[in-house]
Amino acid sequence: MYLKRLKIVNFKNFGAFEAEFSPKINSLTGPNGTGKTNILDAVYYLCFTKSYFASTDVQNIRHGENFMMLEGVFSDESGDRQVLMSLQRGAKKTVKRDGKQVERMGEYIGAYPLVIVSPADRDLIADGSSLRRKFIDGVVSQTSSQHLDAVVSHARIIELRNALLKTPSVTSLQIDVYDKAMIELGRKIYEGRQSFLERFVPVFKKTYSDISGGGEQADITYTSIFENPDAGEILHAARARDLMVGFSTTGAHKDDLKFTLDGYPVKNYGSQGQQKTFLTALKLAQFHFITSLTGRKPILLLDDIFDKLDSRRVEYIMSLVNGDTFGQIFVSDTQPERIRELMRAQGEGHSIFTL
Ligand SMILES: Nc1ncnc2c1ncn2[C@@H]1O[C@H](COP(=O)(O)OP(=O)(O)OP(=O)(O)O)[C@@H](O)[C@H]1O
Ligand SMILES: [Mg+2]
Repeated sequence: MYLKRLKIVNFKNFGAFEAEFSPKINSLTGPNGTGKTNILDAVYYLCFTKSYFASTDVQNIRHGENFMMLEGVFSDESGDRQVLMSLQRGAKKTVKRDGKQVERMGEYIGAYPLVIVSPADRDLIADGSSLRRKFIDGVVSQTSSQHLDAVVSHARIIELRNALLKTPSVTSLQIDVYDKAMIELGRKIYEGRQSFLERFVPVFKKTYSDISGGGEQADITYTSIFENPDAGEILHAARARDLMVGFSTTGAHKDDLKFTLDGYPVKNYGSQGQQKTFLTALKLAQFHFITSLTGRKPILLLDDIFDKLDSRRVEYIMSLVNGDTFGQIFVSDTQPERIRELMRAQGEGHSIFTL
């Protein structure tokens, strides 16, 4: 599966843009602020019906305009399918496939798998555990709707329990009901995360070591109250504190995920290039995970990938993407010379777009 054509109207800095893409490597080059990342985001949008970067949909509409439209043609063995997304200020977004309106986004998302490596991913390292949990839950959910259901229901239970904890007339019996649900759902979430990480972490570690040439050791560690068979007792023991502070201080929503290099937090001890390597390895491992479970190769977006990496790491990543493992790839870089040189080494099947 690959994105054959893209047409943009009033999306971010583009009034109009149209391109025909290679099923292999597409590189976007041009100075800062010319819209390289925005093109990648348009591709992301067509796969996930939302932007990777903008927190609200209207931010994607070009300044001074009233609507935006993205049109794509995805192609695979079964033929071409046209998708169309449009958004008018003050109205609901519409998503159409082959002219037919898509009612539930759930039935659309997953049809065109995609993995993005972007400088914005550094939040995964810099911020607290919640983003890392969200990332892991997102990857697990891409292949398990039960996991997604459990995560959504658990979040709702926490919300209700927190409201209850703040109610002066609250009774122990009332909290018991929520604790039971928290334990049931929390254990399901824990098991989903745990069995995912068992398969994922070795692939991640190997990818990191391949890119870095085997210097430092990267790792991901996961700790949860559900490692203890008596998670219910831990939750119960935390109740007095929960009532005092007015929120749920323990549970699957507080599970800890640590990213480390040689045992130390990447956030504090990793150099910029090592952090970038960490995130790239994380996303490439995500790519392998999706491929092995679904048998399909996601579209891969590599935004500003070469910035901060030394030449050995760049060459290794390019040698990877050149093989059969990957399908369609989009690469952005400010330096046209570097792109041209790298593409020359790739042989046939690439297109360069200069913005
Ligand atoms: N809604 C919008 N309307 C108009 N312009 C926008 C909108 N959203 C973003 N832009 C502009 O799009 C421009 C291009 O952004 P983009 O991030 O794609 O650049 P880039 O080519 O990736 O640059 P860099 O090399 O710095 O990463 C920015 O100058 C930004 O201000
Ligand atoms: Mg950019």
